[in-house]
Amino acid sequence: MAQNWTPSSWRNKPIQQVPDYPDAAALAATEAVLSTYPPLVFAGEARRLKSALANVAEGNAFLLQGGDCAESFLEHGADNIRDFFRAFLQMAVVLTFGAQLPVVKVGRIAGQFAKPRSAPMETQNGVSLPSYRGDIVNGIEFTPEARIPSPERQLDAYRQSAATLNLLRAFAMGGYANLENVHKWMLGFVKDSPQGERYRKLADRISETMDFMKAIGITSENNPSLRETDFFTSHEALLLGYEEALTRVDSTSGDWYATSGHMIWIGDRTRQLDHAHVEYFRGIKNPIGLKCGPSLTPDNLIELIDVLNPTNEAGRLTLICRFGHDKVADSLPKLIRGVEREGRKVVWSCDPMHGNTITLNSYKTRPFERILSEVESFFQIHRAEGTHPGGIHIEMTGKDVTECTGGARAVTAEDLQDRYHTHCDPRLNADQALELAFLLAERMKGGRDEKRMAASA
Ligand code: PEP
Ligand code: CO
Repeated sequence: MAQNWTPSSWRNKPIQQVPDYPDAAALAATEAVLSTYPPLVFAGEARRLKSALANVAEGNAFLLQGGDCAESFLEHGADNIRDFFRAFLQMAVVLTFGAQLPVVKVGRIAGQFAKPRSAPMETQNGVSLPSYRGDIVNGIEFTPEARIPSPERQLDAYRQSAATLNLLRAFAMGGYANLENVHKWMLGFVKDSPQGERYRKLADRISETMDFMKAIGITSENNPSLRETDFFTSHEALLLGYEEALTRVDSTSGDWYATSGHMIWIGDRTRQLDHAHVEYFRGIKNPIGLKCGPSLTPDNLIELIDVLNPTNEAGRLTLICRFGHDKVADSLPKLIRGVEREGRKVVWSCDPMHGNTITLNSYKTRPFERILSEVESFFQIHRAEGTHPGGIHIEMTGKDVTECTGGARAVTAEDLQDRYHTHCDPRLNADQALELAFLLAERMKGGRDEKRMAASA
């Protein structure tokens, strides 16, 4: 591994998943423009997230990370952002109250645009065109014009990220996330579902607690932690030209930071040790994620950790495990043992989405029971190994979509066609996301009770 890192040193390495831009000069011109734009996040915020994640790595908090598989230009709007944020806050409150652990909130949002693909070309009715690689690269419509990668899309993605982040900051800090609103976060279509009922009961208990605190003088006016929340952004940093243009020196520390989002991660298809993505990530100081799929061996993983977190800093590295419900029992224990043997500090997070994708009635979908099953296994395995199941990474939306089958409201294979809106992978709808949060809260509480009993025995 070369010692001299620069924001562009990745350009000398082999690279996977690169769009075929027809006009290299136009691409370079766009990257030059982007490099003059203001950063989207500050280094200080990324450091705050890193210390929150260090708390997760030490077993004292839980990471909730989620959002769209791919954000889209067409669906950009206040209602979608608000509904996502409401569903996400509901999950967070269920986890915090149910499990009595602080929840670190990280959206897959305000930058989650570039998609890796399993094939460079897509064929429909005998016609082959370049695959859709996310709105930051090309258009989803199956026409030759739309599928040609266009650099200007990077400027649109930047602007959309800035606008989304602005609204999210307003929601998080401006009163929307005030715990006094805990009943108001309920989305219309969730109201009369079984999850809605469970949530209402929990919200009633929180309101009661708030009334008690008010009576003893603790109110949201005099206590910011009741009316504000920390919310961070994240995305897969796949399009390295875009990331490089937004990589900036932090004037307070002199360190380099990716300023396209607070946390960025390396996808399962681009984590080769000597390739471009690992090279880029090793030089930035943000908290980072690494997707871990079934092909990752414990030795590979330790080599990657050596490069990505050489000082063994807690909170720097989150391992996002995405094996599949039928592979997790085989893959995860080996990795945990390898990491434990070497004494590496990591956050273990479970992505129960990407290993559980199937096709039904020509729709890509994910059966909810397989998602739950992978999560259950993840918890059981950590319990058996004595390590902390630190977080969850999911694809979700606040909308009432029909993209994943199952759940308490039983979306069937036939229902998929009703409201299938995703630009890439199938997402949990708000109901399914809440159901998952309740299950997680139970498992986390169970784990803590077990620990407490063991300690007092
Ligand atoms: C994703 O998170 O959308 C994704 C492509 O995941 P993975 O790299 O784990 O396949
Ligand atoms: Co996805």
